[in-house]
Amino acid sequence: MLVRVEGLTKTYGKFTAVDDVSFVVNRGEIAGLVGPNGAGKTTIIHILLGLISPTAGRAELFGRELDSNREAILQRLNFTSPYMAFPVRLTVMENLLVFAEIYKVGDPERKIDELLDRFDIARLKNKPVSKLSSGETTRVGLCKAFLNNPELLLLDEPTAYLDHQAALQVREILLDLQKSYGTTILYTSHNMLEVQRMCDRIIFLSYGRVIASGTPIEVTRSVLRENRDKPALDEVFLRLASRRPDEAVSN
Ligand SMILES: Nc1ncnc2c1ncn2[C@@H]1O[C@H](COP(=O)(O)OP(=O)(O)OP(=O)(O)O)[C@@H](O)[C@H]1O
Ligand SMILES: [Mg+2]
Repeated sequence: MLVRVEGLTKTYGKFTAVDDVSFVVNRGEIAGLVGPNGAGKTTIIHILLGLISPTAGRAELFGRELDSNREAILQRLNFTSPYMAFPVRLTVMENLLVFAEIYKVGDPERKIDELLDRFDIARLKNKPVSKLSSGETTRVGLCKAFLNNPELLLLDEPTAYLDHQAALQVREILLDLQKSYGTTILYTSHNMLEVQRMCDRIIFLSYGRVIASGTPIEVTRSVLRENRDKPALDEVFLRLASRRPDEAVSN
């Protein structure tokens, strides 16, 4: 078990953003955290990164309590989101060198060149981040996420701003990494076809609660209550997302 979350809760005043959430992610799995806007996905990822502390519950990564082993844990994982704030006056290379220093990457320039190449943005190396498009900035974030050869990747909507081809490329890279290095990935996306293609397991959230989880086909069968032979997460999403909070936990 690489990630174990138990009874995780986050409240802001009277509002509960994450409500008693428990799930596990096994080593080598790609797990998708999915659900409507405001369901609590980013909040959970931020808790796993130690950026915000839960009101209740616990998170264990690599078999160690996050609370008391934060630094050691953070060296073994990485994160990106298209909403990441880079120091925008620095160039792409300068930005990535700063992160390479944090992650103590050996031969950083070579590693960065390799990643820029892989994500098809070598030509942007000396451009300030302020002058990049959203999709280009997203790719810089992805390069950053791979700098330390993470055992665990937490990706918040990694393909949100990407064009169709770039999204396919990222998807292939992630699957490739999982195959070659057994990288464990927990990621969020609103693209149900992509989630269906990528994820071994999905955790469906609504109003801060887990309302369905399992393999894409298991979730499809249990939510649609039909014996489907193919997953249909787009239908599942529409079915689950139309529920009100008081209906949310009925599976
Ligand atoms: N600092 C905060 N104070 C108050 N409410 C917050 C705070 N941060 C998040 N929330 C609320 O918590 C809920 C969950 O937010 P979160 O960002 O986790 O949703 P999400 O599932 O990532 O949604 P999206 O798909 O839109 O990215 C939202 O209703 C949001 O308004
Ligand atoms: Mg979010």
